[in-house]
Amino acid sequence: MRLFLVTVLLAVFSAASTKSPIFGPQEVSSVVGNPVSITCYYPATSVNRHSRKYWCRKGANSLCTTLISSNGYVSKEYAGRANIINFPENNTFVVNIANLTQDDSGSYKCGLGTSNRPLFFDVSLEVSQAPEFPEDTHVYTEDMGRNVTFECPFQKENSHSKKSLCKKIGQTCELVIDSTGKVNPNYEGRVKLFMKGTSGVIFGVSINHLRLSDAGLYVCQAGEGSSVNKKNVHLQVLEPEPELVYADLRSSVTLDCALGREVANEAKYLCRMNKETCDVVINTLGKRDPAFDGRILLTPKDNNGHFSVLITGVRKEDAGHYLCGAHSSGLPQEGWPIQAWQLFVNEESTIPPSRSVVKGVTGGSVAMVCPYNPKESNSLKYWCRWEGDGNGHCPILVESQGVVQEDYEGRLALYDQPGNGSYTVILNQLTTQDAGSYWCLTNGDSRWRTTIELQVAEAPGKPDLEVTPQNATAVLGETFTLSCHYPCKLYSQEKYWCKWSNKGCHVLPSRDEGARQPSVSCDPSNQLISMTLNPVKKEDEGWYWCGVKQGQTYGETTAIYVAVEEGTGGSRHVNPPDANAHADVAPEKAVESSVSENENRPVLNPKLLAEEKGIESVGDQAQENRASVNAGSADAPGSSKVLFATLVPLGLVLAVGAVAVWVARARHRKNVDRMSISSYRTDISMSDFKNSRDFGGNDNMGASPDNQETVLERKDEIMTTTEIATEPEESKKAKRSSKEEADLAYSAFLIQSSNIAAQVHDVPKEV
Ligand SMILES: *[C@@H]1O[C@H](CO)[C@@H](O)[C@H](O)[C@H]1NC(C)=O
Ligand SMILES: *[C@@H]1O[C@H](CO)[C@@H](O)[C@H](O)[C@H]1NC(C)=O
Ligand SMILES: *[C@@H]1O[C@H](CO)[C@@H](O)[C@H](O)[C@H]1NC(C)=O
Ligand SMILES: *[C@@H]1O[C@H](CO)[C@@H](O)[C@H](O)[C@H]1NC(C)=O
Ligand SMILES: *[C@@H]1O[C@H](CO)[C@@H](O)[C@H](O)[C@H]1NC(C)=O
Repeated sequence: MRLFLVTVLLAVFSAASTKSPIFGPQEVSSVVGNPVSITCYYPATSVNRHSRKYWCRKGANSLCTTLISSNGYVSKEYAGRANIINFPENNTFVVNIANLTQDDSGSYKCGLGTSNRPLFFDVSLEVSQAPEFPEDTHVYTEDMGRNVTFECPFQKENSHSKKSLCKKIGQTCELVIDSTGKVNPNYEGRVKLFMKGTSGVIFGVSINHLRLSDAGLYVCQAGEGSSVNKKNVHLQVLEPEPELVYADLRSSVTLDCALGREVANEAKYLCRMNKETCDVVINTLGKRDPAFDGRILLTPKDNNGHFSVLITGVRKEDAGHYLCGAHSSGLPQEGWPIQAWQLFVNEESTIPPSRSVVKGVTGGSVAMVCPYNPKESNSLKYWCRWEGDGNGHCPILVESQGVVQEDYEGRLALYDQPGNGSYTVILNQLTTQDAGSYWCLTNGDSRWRTTIELQVAEAPGKPDLEVTPQNATAVLGETFTLSCHYPCKLYSQEKYWCKWSNKGCHVLPSRDEGARQPSVSCDPSNQLISMTLNPVKKEDEGWYWCGVKQGQTYGETTAIYVAVEEGTGGSRHVNPPDANAHADVAPEKAVESSVSENENRPVLNPKLLAEEKGIESVGDQAQENRASVNAGSADAPGSSKVLFATLVPLGLVLAVGAVAVWVARARHRKNVDRMSISSYRTDISMSDFKNSRDFGGNDNMGASPDNQETVLERKDEIMTTTEIATEPEESKKAKRSSKEEADLAYSAFLIQSSNIAAQVHDVPKEV
């Protein structure tokens, strides 16, 4: 037992003591007389940038003797041939040593501070004699996977004799290829013997797709016997040096792979070394390691086979060796060019932990918090949805400038919280199709790209927030009140109503009924927050959100689409005081009145709003006509006008005001297609609204629009717009032009997002 404890303690201790955030090359090799540069990476803190950097040699007793340091110290062994340079801009320092000797071989540390602190990295340096070759030997050095062409001179008298290339294996020379067409099976399909130039005194042998095993000594031969011409060539095949990549935990990294034009048309892959094999992480044939699902993108960069792989939300276990390559199989293949990396994960990350999994329920909402570099509060923020098809891509859904992708109209908003280093994205009316991975991006520091996985479960029961009336059709010029019921458990949180637009959700003045009750008891039936539109204007049409928040944390929201229709107009006569009243109508009264208006409206004798035509209509008939015309106008905005021109000469008594119907556009969440609804009764969207109610996703508690400011703004708006509802044609025009504006904005957004997409794949300059 005691022994066990000791072992455990030792293990813990050694694990703790070996964990250093300094990273560098584990093994460095060079040859005598050559220089070497060793780059060491340190965590990006200002203390680290300024503290002493050193390079020391490990001796007996685990002592490390400093050879050079950034304080200006240079040992006599290094005098005149070494320096140490700090690059605070990329959190690295470089130790340059020239004129290497074999005595320089040994174990070293590069580190920060004093050598007795565990801020260092072990580097082993091996300096070997340059291999010596006989004078008549030509040395060729090539990278694995590339081609080499040996040049073999011969004399005229051998012009017609046999030419050959063989490889020295021990005492024998094994044939590789000869001019009679014999080819060694090991070189089948990748070796060629040809006459070089026109002089006819050199033959060439090219070997493609070089493998490590091709390295060695070769002999070219022309002719036989006494007139033979021989030449020795030595081939060195280099494995790629891994490029070091330093990544903070939870950050993102980009691996840039440029393998050359020759493989531009081959399938590309990134694989991860696992002992002897390299397991594919992602390839262009659609294969992907589930461990990277939702957080990896492979993007071709040009026509020369250059591509990059972006990994977000870097995990501890991502550390290791990676290779990229190209082959028609999409798998690593010997003899094909590769590039290598070693990824280091710094666990002392500057990126704060945030929730990487967020859970919601169908019909409910989630608030997802995205961290960003707090020094870049002015950067643009984006939020995209990762899609796994093909090489993966991440279309931007919303950005801090406010534009929301059309399919997400009414249910997505991004709240920047400047100074906090985070922004919140709220998505409501959740469906199971929303489950997936989403990325938080900015146009600034690319390391701060994080991934959030959204899980959506079936709603277990009633939503926490419920809006009444559910059939939200407001009548122009009348008073319309929406009430949001919340359960007692949300009693202590701030409640708000906001109007959604593609610029975000603008907080509206509202009344919290529950808050005015004695706080000792919570009457569940009376927990309401109401928002009143008075009078209803055409621009009031749209999505409204009722939500809760707590300080800077946003919570649940529920959305409702309010359609505005040309009223029967009666209510202003019936209820004159309301017309002049402002949003501060007593909410209880407003609730009642709006409910009764909704119910009574059809019965009232409609005073048509298309005043200049002055056509009177009778309730029920008008309603029918209106409905039928609406169906047409939903498809063709001009059709109501045409119809009007035809009908008036016939002397029919028509509800023109009703003809000029709002073409409410509602977005059906489930099938993303746009749906035009004739708005007389929003029956069409009713099922939507039911689904859209917020089921208690407990995942969000959210935060803080600036009520003060927005409330004031809103009041101004209300002041200036108590006039009579606009004439129908005009309102349609207005509708159209706002649609055009939206289209313009959207195309601008597309342009911008393609720029972002380009940036997304740029190499992080920090790495
Ligand atoms: C760090 O920056 C210096 C100078 O800007 C540059 O020479 C060096 O290559 C950079 N190092 C890395 C690893 O990017
Ligand atoms: C390397 O050493 C040789 C002689 O040993 C000397 O001539 C040369 O200047 C040295 N080079 C450097 C860069 O120190
Ligand atoms: C190697 O040779 C092959 C066949 O001759 C050629 O297609 C390819 O482009 C060459 N690759 C390089 C890197 O030169
Ligand atoms: C934002 O700031 C508030 C206080 O200023 C803090 O309580 C909250 O945790 C911060 N949110 C994030 C995500 O950092
Ligand atoms: C709301 O619309 C639905 C669907 O048309 C209908 O069944 C329901 O009765 C309406 N409710 C109210 C209060 O009008």
